[in-house]
Amino acid sequence: MIPIRPRRLRSTPAMRALTAETRLHRSRLVLPMFVREGIDEPVAITSMPGVVQHSLDSVRRAVTEAAEAGIGGVMLFGIPEEKDAVGSGATDPDGILNVATRVVAEEVGDALVVQTDLCLDEFTDHGHCGVLAADGSVDNDATLERYADMAIAQAESGSQLLGLSGMMDGQVAVVRAALDDAGHSGVAVLGYAAKYASAFYGPFREAVDSSLKGDRRSYQLDPGNGREGLREALLDIDEGADVVMVKPASHYLDVLAEVAAASEIPVWAYQVSGEYAMLEAAAAHGWITRRPAILESLTAIFRAGGDVALTYWAVEVARWLDER
Ligand code: PBG
Repeated sequence: MIPIRPRRLRSTPAMRALTAETRLHRSRLVLPMFVREGIDEPVAITSMPGVVQHSLDSVRRAVTEAAEAGIGGVMLFGIPEEKDAVGSGATDPDGILNVATRVVAEEVGDALVVQTDLCLDEFTDHGHCGVLAADGSVDNDATLERYADMAIAQAESGSQLLGLSGMMDGQVAVVRAALDDAGHSGVAVLGYAAKYASAFYGPFREAVDSSLKGDRRSYQLDPGNGREGLREALLDIDEGADVVMVKPASHYLDVLAEVAAASEIPVWAYQVSGEYAMLEAAAAHGWITRRPAILESLTAIFRAGGDVALTYWAVEVARWLDER
């Protein structure tokens, strides 16, 4: 006699649907998008099949499709034509990210949440997330001044949620204060709290034409440090973040679960470029079945406690969920 039979709840599709613990929903998906200055047609990103660098025209069309697909938001990244030591393009109201933000906010600002990457790495000629000190190290406090100006430029362009991905100490507090002083108390701050120095950002560096030589280990977290990831998240919450992020997602589900257990604010996870590229490459070879693998990868993020996933598959997955 076996009185306890967990298989009863797995017996039919209807029973499985009724007892599913984790459900994907399109409103919990955010699409990261790249907008490049000076192009008329979208440019493919070799290491991320299906993802492009958008022109201003094509991003307008793409965000309209994203809104129609019912996803929750878009996260914009800019790729400027000119870069310099302090990332001037980031704070220029006519810089590509700020221009793109105005275009997107005007097009879909009521239908979904328009978000912007707040970091200098796309705009600096050395490719670091901040400005450099004389000795070549990334100068934390000088960078914060740039972030404060960048926050105001992005808020004035119509960004509703600023994604602070630079991993500078004190960045959430400084940006929050700058926004409030400038009359933008309604603009939300997403702290990329637990952002690891990951090899899985590789394809992103192609996507944004990164100039980086070296690595980001003096500001991003050591992949082995789970406790420190939690510490960073709690600090961001203390500093006034509205949302915290764990990034990358799939290899850091333990960190995600711990942050989710401790946080009183939403916890998001970024399924990064390398996670996308690996699965696409395996699927292209026929080594993995694409759709269920993508859905499983996202289900795992939500099961671990993520409230929202940033994923390059957001629109495609939203359409699949509609078909079900
Ligand atoms: C930095 C930033 C990076 C990513 C998002 N924001 C790259 C980095 O930290 O080196 C990576 C995202 C991805 O790999 O999909 N602004």
